[in-house]
Amino acid sequence: MKPYLIAPSILAADLARLGEEVENVAAAGADIIHFDVMDNHYVPNLTFGPAILEALIKYGIKAEFDVHLMVEPVDDLINQFADAGASYISFHPEASKHVDRSISLIKDKGIKAGLVLNPATPLTVLDHVLHKLDFVLFMSVNPGFGGQSFIPHTLDKIKTLKARIDELGLDTRIEVDGGVKTNNIAEVAAAGADMFVAGTAIFGADDYTVAINEMRSELAK
Ligand code: DX5
Ligand code: ZN
Repeated sequence: MKPYLIAPSILAADLARLGEEVENVAAAGADIIHFDVMDNHYVPNLTFGPAILEALIKYGIKAEFDVHLMVEPVDDLINQFADAGASYISFHPEASKHVDRSISLIKDKGIKAGLVLNPATPLTVLDHVLHKLDFVLFMSVNPGFGGQSFIPHTLDKIKTLKARIDELGLDTRIEVDGGVKTNNIAEVAAAGADMFVAGTAIFGADDYTVAINEMRSELAK
């Protein structure tokens, strides 16, 4: 079984102290740092560009960065985030004219590639590309904002994909993003997920170490 990865989303961090916040959450036991890129076009919100990622890496953050692109188009920013130092890059298929090409752009840079499915995106978008992906990211809220409630039907989609991954003998990870908290993380893992994004559940906690440890103990049950 793959080790579970906990990925705090910096969208919920105190942005005036971003470097310190990311350093603290990495020290608190985060496995990877989830970096939400929004363009006010694909989603109705605007966040961080590659210069911020580069600055965080220069600042000395040791954890790897998981870049979630909510932008359209995607290819140019894939190149820019690859050069900035991303370890994982995912994008939404409807935001790329040539999904297979965008995946190859990520893979050719030696970066782990993921495709993101919104709550209403069918699993069929994965049909001809699943074998190329390192992970599939299920949005369990509609993308654009932190602090929303987990959409429960996501669990059925996760279970269906997990069964397909196992049947095909693939090694694809399943990441879940949106409304993941201590009280539902075990259920999300039982459905087949092994990477968990959590924004408000971690950055909204008084003690990041306690919040991450509580999640890990739920996962160990
Ligand atoms: C939403 C983002 C998420 C968000 C999750 O579009 O992709 O990563 O930060 O936030 P929480 O964990 O607060 O739902
Ligand atoms: Zn995200």
